[in-house]
Amino acid sequence: MTDVTVVGSIFMDLICYADRLPKPGETLGGTDFQTGYGGKGANQCIAAQRLGIKTAFVGKLGKDAYGKEYYENFLSEGVSVEGITLEDNVPTGVASIMVGTDTGENFIIIAEGATKLVTPSYVKEAGEALISSSKLVVCQLEIPHESSLTALRLAKQHGVPTIFNPAPAVSGLPKEIFQLCDHIILNETEAEIISGLEKIQDQLGLEQAIEKLKELGCTNIILTLGSDGALVWDNSRKSYERFQAPKVKAVDTTGAGDCFVGAYAACIARGDELSTAVRNAIANASDSVQRKGTQKSFPYKIEIFLIDCDL
Ligand code: RIB
Ligand code: NA
Repeated sequence: MTDVTVVGSIFMDLICYADRLPKPGETLGGTDFQTGYGGKGANQCIAAQRLGIKTAFVGKLGKDAYGKEYYENFLSEGVSVEGITLEDNVPTGVASIMVGTDTGENFIIIAEGATKLVTPSYVKEAGEALISSSKLVVCQLEIPHESSLTALRLAKQHGVPTIFNPAPAVSGLPKEIFQLCDHIILNETEAEIISGLEKIQDQLGLEQAIEKLKELGCTNIILTLGSDGALVWDNSRKSYERFQAPKVKAVDTTGAGDCFVGAYAACIARGDELSTAVRNAIANASDSVQRKGTQKSFPYKIEIFLIDCDL
């Protein structure tokens, strides 16, 4: 039995670090270069697996050097790989990433490669058995959107709860996708794009975005606010709750959102309360931004409950 099945993207991250991000057209001397294991789907899976639960992944790699290396990475992390295929004649997806270590912020361009071939029919073929025997299914938007929708539909058909992370966000997604997720986790930019609200600035704006998501059919809504923590609509309590994040020095925020989603999923799968899951997710994501790299920076079984949360 699998705790969490993640259906999503796998990218090799090629990361250049500099003291700050360049301006358009500017050539800037860097301070470091690293390759790392990335892709939002794979990152979320690894973040969950490292907290001691059993995960499975559904996705595609190219049958090239990156693909073979990445497959070994899944195995060494202990992820079930029956749902992962290495495809001939297509490269493993890559993400070209720039990080400014002054703020830890990044720019990312994706070349999806084999991840583009994670079609709805592949999700059904390779994923249905895994999905139906899981406690929780997680998807994002780095595979074709119809494929994420298929994964969510399959989960619901088998009575399996779902988490949806609409990243990278696009407007005009079918309403069904929001109705099929039991938990939606998104950041402010994603909330603006999906709700259609311009520049969310304050608590009122955040609550308006959440109200729009409720109108779309979302139930539990977790709006992540980076160093400001998270604002949550807990559907069973019918109430808002604000969570703070610890003050840390961020050097690389790449994948912090994925670390949050994975940790949250791990907690929900093992039966934690929603508020406990959010606290642990914030703690793990805040821990990860203090180290370079995406998956590489995700904690193993570290749970730091936040004690001093001044609201
Ligand atoms: O969310 C971070 C991830 O986005 C990176 O690992 C990169 O691969 C892109 O998918
Ligand atoms: Na990091």
